[in-house]
Amino acid sequence: MSKISLQSIEKSFGETPVLKQVSLDIEEGEFVTLVGPSGCGKSTLLRILSGLEQADAGRVSIGGMNVTDVRPAERNLAMVFQSYALYPHLSVADNMMTPLRMRDLPMWGRLPMIGPLLARDTYRVMQGQVREVAETLKITPLLDRKPGQLSGGQRQRVALGRAMVRQPVAFLMDEPLSNLDAALRVHMRAELSELHRRLKTTFVYVTHDQAEALTMSDRMAVMMHGNILQVGPPDEIYANPNCLEVARFIGSPAINTFAAEIQSDGHLALIGTTLSLVQPLTRAPVTVGIRPEHLFLSPTGRFQGHVRYRENLGSDVFLHLDVEGAQQPVVLRANPAQAAQVTLRNRVCFDLEPDKVLLFQSTGERLPCALATREVA
Ligand SMILES: Nc1ncnc2c1ncn2[C@@H]1O[C@H](COP(=O)(O)OP(=O)(O)O)[C@@H](O)[C@H]1O
Ligand SMILES: [Mg+2]
Repeated sequence: MSKISLQSIEKSFGETPVLKQVSLDIEEGEFVTLVGPSGCGKSTLLRILSGLEQADAGRVSIGGMNVTDVRPAERNLAMVFQSYALYPHLSVADNMMTPLRMRDLPMWGRLPMIGPLLARDTYRVMQGQVREVAETLKITPLLDRKPGQLSGGQRQRVALGRAMVRQPVAFLMDEPLSNLDAALRVHMRAELSELHRRLKTTFVYVTHDQAEALTMSDRMAVMMHGNILQVGPPDEIYANPNCLEVARFIGSPAINTFAAEIQSDGHLALIGTTLSLVQPLTRAPVTVGIRPEHLFLSPTGRFQGHVRYRENLGSDVFLHLDVEGAQQPVVLRANPAQAAQVTLRNRVCFDLEPDKVLLFQSTGERLPCALATREVA
């Protein structure tokens, strides 16, 4: 019903194109994340959706209605910003009631002191709505406090509450967690996911943090230099990136990439080893991508390197290896027991999971081709 549709959106600032024919459909109730590096146009696209910014070309529709020329206030979307912009002199309850006062009360009803007396019934309804949202967000005990008496996470929740009282068709959030410290950010991710599950309202969420996008979204749209490169569920994008830029942006530590070559026999030459492909390809330079968890230590491994650095995360250890023929250190995920066996600067042998290897053309497009799981003699 309230499907959101962005069609061929274009936007330039001066001579600089910032959005180049961007299209995206968001289903009702979905949690969709726009994720990409800083400056790629995420905020601009969200502002165009909200109506705060005007596109140069293209069409925005909500629930089948063309809203391209509809003012922000009439789109019934709630924007939650990075800075919470709460009124410091108002209580939490009054902060949350503000959007209702603006929408539901005539001018005289908004007068201080006398307004609540004149519009008593409307106030009672609004107070009920505020209490209900406060219950949902578990901030009822905070209703009488001022924003200055709240922690960062609590302020975040109040800002959300203020957006929720209007029952918008969608919440638009632009990097709402980036002002919080690391631990709280992780906690708020879980809270936002949980809130989305309970509300079942559409969330459009902007972040430069790929981990945030991976953990929270139903679908993510990966943006770079004014384009959406790929849209899909996090697992799908992580496992099946459609180009090298997406593969490199999503995942931490980043995917390993190697300049390699399809040989004249149609198979792949990768750092000194020939690997069989399911289907031989024509001779060409290619880029090979392998995620750290798809490499493993093995005494009989076909590759070898010297341990340059052990990145110990407790549950996993990422070994950084200097490998002859590789342009940069190769990162391999090991379990702590395995990692305990290796010594810095020592030589280790490793191998790869052939069905997890990704191939890309030298231009960056994904090659729809897989490695054979067994070597052809
Ligand atoms: N009002 C503006 N005037 C001029 N340039 C802008 C304006 N807003 C954004 N830009 C530029 O547009 C590009 C995209 O910005 P933005 O959408 O904020 O990116 P993101 O949110 O992905 O970091 C950036 O290069 C930015 O400098
Ligand atoms: Mg931004």
